[in-house]
Amino acid sequence: MTQPKEKYTIAGIGEVLWDIYRDHRHVGGAPANFAIHAAQLGDESVLVSRVGDDGMGRELIQALRQWRLPVETIQIDEKKPTGTVMVSLNVKGVPSFRCSQDVAFDYLQFTPALETIAKNCDAVLFGTLAQRSSATRKTIWHFLQSAKKAVRVFDVNSRASAEALREIVPPSLEAATVLKVNRHELDMMQVLLRREGEVRRKFIDFLLKKYHLKLVAITYGEGGCEIFDGQTACKIDGLSVKEIDTTGAGDAFAAGLIHKLLRGAPLREIAEYANLLGAFLCTQSGATPIFTTQDLENFRESL
Ligand SMILES: Nc1ncnc2c1ncn2[C@@H]1O[C@H](COP(=O)(O)OP(=O)(O)O)[C@@H](O)[C@H]1O
Ligand SMILES: [Mg+2]
Repeated sequence: MTQPKEKYTIAGIGEVLWDIYRDHRHVGGAPANFAIHAAQLGDESVLVSRVGDDGMGRELIQALRQWRLPVETIQIDEKKPTGTVMVSLNVKGVPSFRCSQDVAFDYLQFTPALETIAKNCDAVLFGTLAQRSSATRKTIWHFLQSAKKAVRVFDVNSRASAEALREIVPPSLEAATVLKVNRHELDMMQVLLRREGEVRRKFIDFLLKKYHLKLVAITYGEGGCEIFDGQTACKIDGLSVKEIDTTGAGDAFAAGLIHKLLRGAPLREIAEYANLLGAFLCTQSGATPIFTTQDLENFRESL
């Protein structure tokens, strides 16, 4: 077995945007959240996205420097604005979103620099939002084709209907080696793949086999998670926390999962660490709180 490396190179590709709350805003976009957390866990992290040539774009780039993410991989669009999402939270900190249309991240270009990143990364995470445009969908597809030796995580990250995602989900499953879905996305996928009514375990086995996946992770919000690798399943209960804002819990979960998966950890350790990160995120405001691994340790001890 190859020795684990000290640092891995991890990429998030797709949207970066401002999550706009009533009286403040945070950096957001699932691939951005993921890349930021991967950096905070100590890996070399890269975010591949595109912002507008505007104040919001410049502030986003400035914000990314806080996490020491390289900013050369953020393309600048001269015509389209930086993406934004209006976020409103209910009393349990559960968000609903309204996303701006036809923005810079819809025009992500595949470049030789991106190809080099793709060839050298150990893991990449992508979703569905940025694939709404054909230009960015093509770029993500090219990136994944060049990232053949990487762990390729498809995190659906959408409340859209099966109909709206029909063109995006099957090719994304083909390109992925790991699938991360929440319970709503799993239901949607079952409709989309015309397997409604099938018991969950059978559906997961179908996904693992048909798309040659190494791992499927299902998240159940406060109910924890379940991870399947084709041989075994590992279910972990949710941690009891005081939720402030659950936005981005799944992205932190994915960062924890990849961190441990790349290091060859057993399934249970992967699930426990991912679950810890997801729960920690819920106790913080926004999807990209600044934290250290010591903060995570303190949080674990406080439970
Ligand atoms: N209210 C909560 N209490 C404790 N942990 C949570 C809570 N909400 C989310 N989590 C953690 O974050 C993970 C992802 O959350 P979930 O809401 O299922 O995904 P997503 O954010 O992708 O919709 C869960 O599996 C769990 O580990
Ligand atoms: Mg999610």
